[in-house]
Amino acid sequence: MDARDLLRSVRMAGSATGLRTTRAAWRTRRLDARDLPRPGPERARVPGAAVDAQPLPGGGVVAFGRSRLLVRVSVGGAVFCGWDGAEPEPSYALAPAGSPHGGAGGGLPAPDVRALLEPDKDGWRVVSERMTVLVSRHGAVEFRTPGGLLLRRELPPRWWDASGHEGGASRWVQRSQTPADARVYGLGGRAAGPRLADGTYRLWNTDPGGAFAPGDDPLYITMPVQLVVADAGCHLLFHDNTWDGQVTLRDGEEGEGSGHDRPGGCELRMEGGPLRYWVIAGTPARVLSGWTALTGRPALPPRWALGHHHSRWGFGNEQEVRRIAAGYRERDLPLSVIHLDIDHYDGHRVFTVDREAYPDLPRLARELEDRGIRLVSIVDPAVKAEPGLAEYDSGLAAGAFVRDARGREVEGVVWPGPAVFPDFTDPKVRHWWGGLYAERLGQGFAGVWHDMNEPVSFAAFGDPTLPRSARHHLEGRGGDHREAHNVYGLAMARAAYEGLRELRPEQRPFLFSRSGWAGMQRYGGTWSGDVATGWQGLRASLALVLGLGLCGVPYSGPDVGGFTGSPSPELYLRWFQLGAYLPLFRTHSAHDAGRREPWEFGPRVLEHARAALAERTRLLPYFETLAHIARGTGAPYVRPLWWTSPADRALRECGDAFLLGDALLVAPVMEPGSAKRAVRLPRGLWYDTATGEAHRGPGQVLLDAPLDRIPVLARAGAVLPVAGPDGGIELEAWAPRAGRTGGGVVFTGDPEGWEPPRMTRFVSRWAGDRVVVEADGGGEPDYAVRVRGAGG
Ligand code: GLC
Repeated sequence: MDARDLLRSVRMAGSATGLRTTRAAWRTRRLDARDLPRPGPERARVPGAAVDAQPLPGGGVVAFGRSRLLVRVSVGGAVFCGWDGAEPEPSYALAPAGSPHGGAGGGLPAPDVRALLEPDKDGWRVVSERMTVLVSRHGAVEFRTPGGLLLRRELPPRWWDASGHEGGASRWVQRSQTPADARVYGLGGRAAGPRLADGTYRLWNTDPGGAFAPGDDPLYITMPVQLVVADAGCHLLFHDNTWDGQVTLRDGEEGEGSGHDRPGGCELRMEGGPLRYWVIAGTPARVLSGWTALTGRPALPPRWALGHHHSRWGFGNEQEVRRIAAGYRERDLPLSVIHLDIDHYDGHRVFTVDREAYPDLPRLARELEDRGIRLVSIVDPAVKAEPGLAEYDSGLAAGAFVRDARGREVEGVVWPGPAVFPDFTDPKVRHWWGGLYAERLGQGFAGVWHDMNEPVSFAAFGDPTLPRSARHHLEGRGGDHREAHNVYGLAMARAAYEGLRELRPEQRPFLFSRSGWAGMQRYGGTWSGDVATGWQGLRASLALVLGLGLCGVPYSGPDVGGFTGSPSPELYLRWFQLGAYLPLFRTHSAHDAGRREPWEFGPRVLEHARAALAERTRLLPYFETLAHIARGTGAPYVRPLWWTSPADRALRECGDAFLLGDALLVAPVMEPGSAKRAVRLPRGLWYDTATGEAHRGPGQVLLDAPLDRIPVLARAGAVLPVAGPDGGIELEAWAPRAGRTGGGVVFTGDPEGWEPPRMTRFVSRWAGDRVVVEADGGGEPDYAVRVRGAGG
């Protein structure tokens, strides 16, 4: 926390807390000085020369003078590399064995027995269906396409082995090269994305304090996951290591035919933990499918979570909640969810209710549900350290809270004041915590919103989190916060998800979480966190959604209007129009921020926001279909423009528009005062959905973007489900190009339960001068069809 953050946190939390946060910061410093292993002499090491190689199912082991490397190709094509004896398990990222999250029930995928390590001219190679892996005699590893094109070259790693003290970790660095034209995305939620420019990105989940803008990094969700796109092909690289580290990226340069390209560079430095990684290659869709087969398919949100959400820190009381709900109703604006923030707790204590402000929460919840509105509750991990408080007493008795090396509970400071932190890396603690959600269900909440789980403990100086020396269970292995920090939010999500499944088995849990790590999609989604109000914040919010989607987390969205201050009517409207096309469509703001209700910005904004809400409602069947596609394949709802044309280099630079599923291209307005927008189109024919005009890609077009809408284009041939005037599903079919066919899928499913969905595929084609749509295999569709676009 720098001086500015400190000022902010003190201003925000009041001076009594200011004193506490100063004490807490000193306490952390003292504990770490006492309990962290002292930096001692380190010995640098590289693998050395190869001495031996041994084939094993899926690949083999190459032994070097001072290390060894395991290469193993899995069924499905993902390649695992582990140095120094590192194996894929234990891992927080991989879907737990026997869990329902994986492509095939979770657990480690079996080796592809067709792939075997064999001698090659400069070392060894493993040839598999999707990739060839070449291991040099000094420990460089190349990943090539089956056609021989280079995807990435990992240079021999270097370790600094800590010696002479217990608990010392080996730092390590690995440098790698990518083709000169490669572009990198991902690394979790990065405000400066989606394409990650040259620079250093830290891997340490962090609450930036106050609010963030594009220059702020890292943020709440960091992940050692890179999606790399190049002419040669795409691949995903995942270093399965939860420690603090940093990734430095450098763009390559092409030698303009001189044959002297400078490759793209990536350097990963980690403070400890295993050197092991996975590489998955293929088209973007195959890569995301492989990645979510490994780490778990994304949880399917209940249908209501795809509607509009309204939230605010500081509604204050139930009359205000009723007033907001009535405001939407009276103006005939659809509203699906209202969120209650920490101000509805009793003194900021998690799992309690302020009975004065909310005397009968279950009744309020029922009343709202009768009007089609669900209640979602914030849940913070820290428990007030207050004897007599049920959660504190039961947690203490169960040994649930994070302790220091001498076995004393680590005390920090969060909203309720002095607080302790459940150790979610302990299965027993997860079970205890999961049971506490019974209280939330009893209050009538339909879903939960996890916050402050980086975890945050306010500190006047230093890192606002737990001491690095704090001890964690780590599934029985034992370790400290250096290793557990980045998976704290992920493990909390697991606790809640499993608890909710036990407490209310007939319903799919709805959960989204501010912090998390690779694999968090198994339990739910996330949101932008405290994005600063401003045009920059609006841009950052799209970058976050795109980047997270490429890391396997498809359900997210920003605080529409921004978290802080008061957006201008124009900014609010443009944010709202973008939000209407993102999976989580939620207005939210801080307690001291201006209003965010659509009617607070004048009649013109209200009318245009109404149009955005109506379009969202019309697209709900499409969003539901996209949710099922994400669940089944890992493909995010919101995709970068290069998703289907990764070879189009201009698209790789493009972060101001996105594809919504296969059918739509959305070009939000992210500059003030614009009535037009340049939009870069991928290959194919695209219809402006407002004017019906057709545009041919690849290339750039200038489209009208009046205040009442943002440009949305439909791909020629697309067939998508929308809500008809009576609320039932209709098919919207966009005319295919002359002589071509088109199609799409529709998933209809259980709105809240576990029944498997029904999928129907439709094809469209020209029949003379008419476009006809048929169910796959022939026959009339069960739905009304509306053909649009040329000749429609
Ligand atoms: C954090 C959250 C924010 C919430 C606030 C109070 O700043 O990111 O969404 O409103 O805490 O709970």
